[in-house]
Amino acid sequence: MPSPVATAGDSHWTDLHQDAIVLALLLECADDFVAGGVLCDKLDVPRAELLKRIDSLRARGYVIHTRGGLGYRLVEIPDQLGDAQIAPLLASGELGRKIHYFEEVESTNDEAHRLAEAGALHGEVVVADFQTRGRGRRGRSWVAPRGKALTFSVVLRPAIAPARAPEITIAAAVAAAEAAREMGAGSARIKWPNDVECKGRKIAGLLTELRAEPDRVRHAVLGVGVNVSLQMHDFPEELRPVATSLLLESGERQPRPLVCARLLEHIEEWLSLHETEGFGPVADRWRELSSTLGRRVRITGADPIEGDAVDLAEDGALLVRTGRGALVRVLAGDVEHCTLL
Ligand code: BTN
Repeated sequence: MPSPVATAGDSHWTDLHQDAIVLALLLECADDFVAGGVLCDKLDVPRAELLKRIDSLRARGYVIHTRGGLGYRLVEIPDQLGDAQIAPLLASGELGRKIHYFEEVESTNDEAHRLAEAGALHGEVVVADFQTRGRGRRGRSWVAPRGKALTFSVVLRPAIAPARAPEITIAAAVAAAEAAREMGAGSARIKWPNDVECKGRKIAGLLTELRAEPDRVRHAVLGVGVNVSLQMHDFPEELRPVATSLLLESGERQPRPLVCARLLEHIEEWLSLHETEGFGPVADRWRELSSTLGRRVRITGADPIEGDAVDLAEDGALLVRTGRGALVRVLAGDVEHCTLL
């Protein structure tokens, strides 16, 4: 597992790093006890230091059982969304390097923009237990009940021209779909451009917003909303036919800090692949995970059209073949899926 960002000689970071190693080993063995000796060896510390790490994790809400002779077993991950709960679970290098937690905020995207304008670094995260004015795509609102959803935003400072920003949205959608699958939503696919859905029901949405000069991105904010442990009755009535959650898909309650950590890791992985290898591999994976390609679609919005979704273009546009045979590049709009081709 990659190490959390640490500053040499900073004992707080060393402790966090060691907490993360203990947690990773306990998580790996899930239902089993891990011997104290194994943990001490991995950390290269004496038993007294291991006890401090176990106490530190318990103080953050992790429930760890001890059995003489057998060692330690992780039985519960806390569901609170603070830095103290997310950071020890995080294996990413830069994303989540600093986590700003708010019990309540208007929109984590707004807060992330504020922090970015004040100099926040690439990878800083704003997470909230509740948003009072959460925003969705195309001017819609994003409403999520307190305590059952994950709403966070990441400050990004990509070295790309503003015109390439949709590539980030596509990379983030790939990451979110993969994370959802890994956490039990096995049928998660991507509806163009970046809705993550399971058999037509939305489980997560992403909103990328840019602050840019004509030739340079000052910063981007990637906002992520995930329905984690909502039951059907937690959704507003009008959304019930088109919404789902990780709990409904997997049958298991996932602790939100773990969902947040896994998402950040996947986002980091896909953004760094995008940085080193360009859009090609990202677009290929998007095609594999897409629920839009190969369907008759209706695009609503300023320029409504209907046709067959045939491919993703090199700039993230959706290529739609209309009834008259024209190939139209769709850059914005809402997609309605009609029949399979
Ligand atoms: C959509 O599917 O319309 C996008 C939804 C994005 C919602 C997230 S929740 C966290 C972040 N803060 C916001 O105000 N919006 C995004």
